[in-house]
Amino acid sequence: MATVLALETSCDESAAAIVRDQTVLASAVASQVEEHARWGGVVPEIASRRHVEALPQLIDQVCRESGVALAELDGIAATAAPGLVGALLVASVTGRTLARLHAKPFVAVHHLEGHLCSVQLGDPLPPGPYLVLLVSGGHTELLRVDGPGQYQRLGRSHDDAAGEAFDKVARLLDLGYPGGPAIEAAGLDGDPRRFALPKGRVSRPEGGFYPYDFSFSGLKTAMLRQVRALEAARDSVPASPDSPDSPAEALPLADLAASFEQVVAEVLVERSCRCAREQGLGTLVLVGGVAANRRLRALLEARCQRDGLAWRVAPLAYCTDNAAMIGVAAAQRLTAGQHSSLELAVAARLPLEQADRLYESQACF
Ligand code: KG4
Ligand code: ZN
Repeated sequence: MATVLALETSCDESAAAIVRDQTVLASAVASQVEEHARWGGVVPEIASRRHVEALPQLIDQVCRESGVALAELDGIAATAAPGLVGALLVASVTGRTLARLHAKPFVAVHHLEGHLCSVQLGDPLPPGPYLVLLVSGGHTELLRVDGPGQYQRLGRSHDDAAGEAFDKVARLLDLGYPGGPAIEAAGLDGDPRRFALPKGRVSRPEGGFYPYDFSFSGLKTAMLRQVRALEAARDSVPASPDSPDSPAEALPLADLAASFEQVVAEVLVERSCRCAREQGLGTLVLVGGVAANRRLRALLEARCQRDGLAWRVAPLAYCTDNAAMIGVAAAQRLTAGQHSSLELAVAARLPLEQADRLYESQACF
C-alpha cells in the first residue's frame, strides 16, 4: 500500500490530495476560473501567482482532513508535464522541496496519466486492455491502455481539442468561460436536432479518412456561420409597428448549444465505439474535463450497451483537474518501484507514450 501526497498546478486549478492506492483520504481544489473568466481564457502569469498563494493552504487542509502527517507518507507527487511551465513549477518545486525535507521519494506524474487513473476512483475496472477516450481542454485522444506506462495512441484530434471547441463556441455564443459547463447549462432544454452540423473527418493523403481521428475546426466555423445567418435573418425583420421599440428577438441559444453538444458527443462516441470494436477492446473508458458532460456520458452508455461493450466513466468530481487522480498514478508508480529524480524539472510538452521517462535515474529535462 502506498500513501501519497499529490500536488497539481498544471493549468488553472490548484489542487492537493492524499491518496492511499485508489482511495482518496482527502482532496481539495481551488479553482481560479472566476479570475480567468474576465479575460476569456487562462492567463499564465496570473495562474502561477495564484498557485503560489493557494497551494500551502491546500496542503495543510488535506493533511488535516485525512489525519495523515507528512512523516507517514510513502511519497510526494507532483504533475511535471504537460502544461503551463510557470504553473507546473509551483507544484513541482513544492513537491521536491517537501520530499527532500522529509526524506521521501518524489514521484513526477504525467498529467494525462493522472486523467487515465481518475477512472480508478470509481467502480473497479474489468481486466485490461481497454480503450480510453481522453477528452480535455488540451487533448482529444483514443488510447489503448495495457497497464501503467503502456499506452498506444490510436486516434487524436488534428486541430482543436474537444474542450477547446466547447470553450471557443461558448465565447461565440457569449456564454462565458469555461465553455463546457456553460454550454451544458444553456443547452439543457434545447432541441439537439434543430441545427444540422458537420462531423469533421480527417482525410488521408492516400485517399479516404482516418477512422479514429477527429477535427473540430469545421464544426466551429459551421457554428459561426449559423449564428451569423440567424443574426442576419433576425435583423432583416422590420420592427413591428405595434411595438417599434421591442428588443430584437434573442438567438435560439438553447437549441444552438444543444445541437453543438449533440454533434460533439456523437462524433466522439461513434468513433470510439468503432475503434473499440475493430481493435478487439471490450471496455471503453471516458476521462478528462469534457467527460463531465452529461449528454456525452449518457450517449456513451447507450451506445456501449447497444454494441455489447463494457464501459466506465470517471466519477464526476474527478473529471476536471484534481490532485486525487495524480495521487492514484503516483501510488501505482511507487508500488512498481519507480520514483523520480529530485533534479527533474517540468516540461510544457511530453507525449503520454513517453511518461516512463519521468522515472529515469537521470533527470530527463
Ligand atoms: O481536464 P480539464 O479540467 O483540463 C485540462 O487538462 O485541459 O478539462 C477542461 C476542459 C475545458 O475545456 C472545459 O470547457 C471542459 O473541460 N469541460 C466540459 C465540461 N466541464 C468541463 N466540457 C463539456 N461539458 C462539461 N460539463
Ligand atoms: Zn487536465
